[in-house]
This record gives sequence, structure tokens and C-alpha cells, in this order.
Amino acid sequence: MLQSYRVKGINESITLKLNAKAVALAEEGRKIYNLTAGQLPCKPMSELIELMRGELNFLKSFQYAPVPGIRELRDKFLHRFFATRDLENSPLEAKLDCAISNGGKHALGNALGALVNPGDEVILIAPYWLTYRPLVELWGGVAKVVSSTLYDQFIPSIAEIEKAITPKTRAIIVNSPNNPTGIHYPKDWMERFGKMLLEHQEVSVISDEIYFDLSYFDPGPTYFYQLYPELLNRTIIVDGISKNMACTGLRIGFTIAPAELIAAIGRLQGQTTSGANTLVQRALVELDFDLISTFLEPIRNQLRNNARSLRESFRQADLSNCWYQSTSAFYFLVDFSTTPMFQRFAKSSEETEEISDYATDICSDLLEKHGVALVPTADFGTPNCARISLVLEERPFAEAINLVVEYLNQEK
Ligand SMILES: Cc1ncc(COP(=O)(O)O)c(C=O)c1O
Repeated sequence: MLQSYRVKGINESITLKLNAKAVALAEEGRKIYNLTAGQLPCKPMSELIELMRGELNFLKSFQYAPVPGIRELRDKFLHRFFATRDLENSPLEAKLDCAISNGGKHALGNALGALVNPGDEVILIAPYWLTYRPLVELWGGVAKVVSSTLYDQFIPSIAEIEKAITPKTRAIIVNSPNNPTGIHYPKDWMERFGKMLLEHQEVSVISDEIYFDLSYFDPGPTYFYQLYPELLNRTIIVDGISKNMACTGLRIGFTIAPAELIAAIGRLQGQTTSGANTLVQRALVELDFDLISTFLEPIRNQLRNNARSLRESFRQADLSNCWYQSTSAFYFLVDFSTTPMFQRFAKSSEETEEISDYATDICSDLLEKHGVALVPTADFGTPNCARISLVLEERPFAEAINLVVEYLNQEK
């Protein structure tokens, strides 16, 4: 059957292929350390589970929710946003609204659908979450990439971002805390970013803040619009309950933006997916959101301990060239090109303009030889690197990192 150019342009996820390989090896009886997870390996807080159980008794829980979400929940998400970003009593509070969608990814797709016309440019900052590019392209947009590297701690140059802005630029996607680097951009970067935006009135920002609650080293994340609140007039915040409430499968995300854009998102969602899961929304209306930080406390401790143990293992093994301090989200990005092992893969390559990517071969080799699964990040806009997930329990995590370190230092 003929297929549209849209779906032909979407690649199968390399992560899925590697995961399938990890599962096959585990089924053969091999001990496998899976460091690919983008979700917490635990159930949500018991209060939420109980509330969902209670909602099973109501017919309404099984019927359509209002398209942009249940009003009380939209208001709760808005309230929490203003409270956690120190923006309470801002005059802009009245101008913003919230729409609830089927997960953060859907919120992002809606935001791009409501903003981007064919041919419009959207600036991505590499390393970026791998879904941004296909979503931009699905709506007919053109992704323009500004890169950051390990040498600048994955903090992109504002001058480079400004250089990438053209009359066709519709939006910049910023993701802090970041997947896959596990860092959040510092306050002074946000200050300079905000200042630069003031000079480009026609550019909107999509701020993907899905890991906001998951920073484990102070200072926590700050955003440009906290320093220049007038920028909220052209900012779309994307968030959800997948990461901070351990609810990836419940599919609840949300968008906070100027009310007229939220209305447009509502129209788009009304003719595509309708409102998000009613039962979960009703339970969330009743949930005390102050419980989120209590729920996350042991998780943040574990992420911090794993980040520290990774640092120590790299330091002891003289791998400081590829080490930096991760501070948030679930991840650390390892740059293979700075490690002794890399020569085995790069040796055979011919000099070309394009940077060749060996990360998929390396991850496959690491999995076969040492039983550790990582996510290669070429699709995140960063070749020759891989994402390490920090969510595993501390002991198996340390064992896995020792195997990774041993592998990275093998020259032959
Ligand atoms: C940076 C980033 N944004 C958005 C999402 C989407 O989350 P959801 O599972 O709610 O669709 C993810 C999920 O991995 C992510 O890493």
C-alpha cells in the first residue's frame, strides 16, 4: 500500500532495536544491566493509586472529559506553575491558560501544530530529545540545529542561537533540565537568553519542563521568563506527570501558554484525540500536589548518589575527559570519542566532511561483550555519544558503570 511522505520520513527508534537485543540476551540467561530507561522503576505514590481506585466507582470516570481537560485540574496545574516558578501575583497570571493532553509528547505535538506553518523554522539545541525533530517535520517545519558540546558542559552559546534566527524562525525549543545530558542551564544563561529574545519579538519559545522537579544538585532550574515575565506572552510551557509522578503509562501532559494559543490547541485536540484520560484527571483533581516533593525525595537522593558514583568511577579510571557534573533529569551523556576504546572504531574511517557516527556499533558491542545497554544518541543530534540512565538501584548501577568504564578504557 502506498504510504504518505510523512510516515516514510519517520525512522524506527534505535533504542527499541537495542532494547530488543537486551531482552533477547537476558532470555538466553545473560546478566544484562539495562541503562536505557527514561522512566522511574517504581509505582506512583500510594495516595494517587488510592484516588484512582476510588474514581472507578463513578460512571463519569469512564466518559469523555472536556477537550482541554477538567477545569479544576487545569487550574491546579496553573496554580502549581505560578507557585513553583515564584510568579504568583504576576499580572500575566490572568492571561495564561492550561490545556491537558495525552502526555508531554502530545502536548509538544499540539504546541507545534498550533504554531508552525509549512516552511517555518524551529531551532533545536543539540543534544535534544529525539522526538523534537520528527514532530517539527511532521507539521511541515524545518529543524535548525545549534549544537553544544561536552567542552562547554552542554550549555549552548547564545550568540550561536541568535545567529540561527532568520525571518522564518517561528520557535526555539528549550529543554532544561535536559534529556539526554542531565543538566539544566544556569540562571545567567537564562538571563542572557531572555535578553536576546527581547530583541526578536516574533520568535516564540517552547520550554519543555517535564524534568523540572527532578534536579538533585542546587541551584535548581530557573527560566528566562522568571527574569523577564513579559516573555510569557510568547512562551509555551510543556509539562506532565510522566516523570515527576512516575506515571509514564497514564498519559497525562499539559501545556501552559497565552489563552488564545490554548484555545487553538483545544480546537486541534478536539478534532484529533479529544480530552485526555478522564479517570486519571479526576483522581489528580483530588490529589495534594504538595506530596510530589515528598515522593521524589528518595528518588532525588538515589539519582544524586548514582551521579556521584559515576563521577568517582570515571575519575579513578582516568576518564575525566568525558566527565562533567550531571545535575538533573535521569541521565548522563558519555562521549565515546574522548575515550581510548574509540580508536578501534574510528581507525578504519576515511576523512569526510560529515562526522561519522559509531555510537550504535559501540553500544551494540558493549551490550554483547559486557551486558550493559545504553542509548546511542545520533538521533538526539549528538553523534558518538550514548545516554546512561541513572534510575537503576545504587548497587547494580555501580556494577554496570564499572563494566562501562572497563570497556571505555580498552584500546584493543
Ligand atoms: C524531554 C522530554 N520531553 C517530553 C517527554 C514526553 O513525556 P511523556 O511520556 O509525558 O509523553 C519526554 C519523555 O521521555 C522527554 O524526555
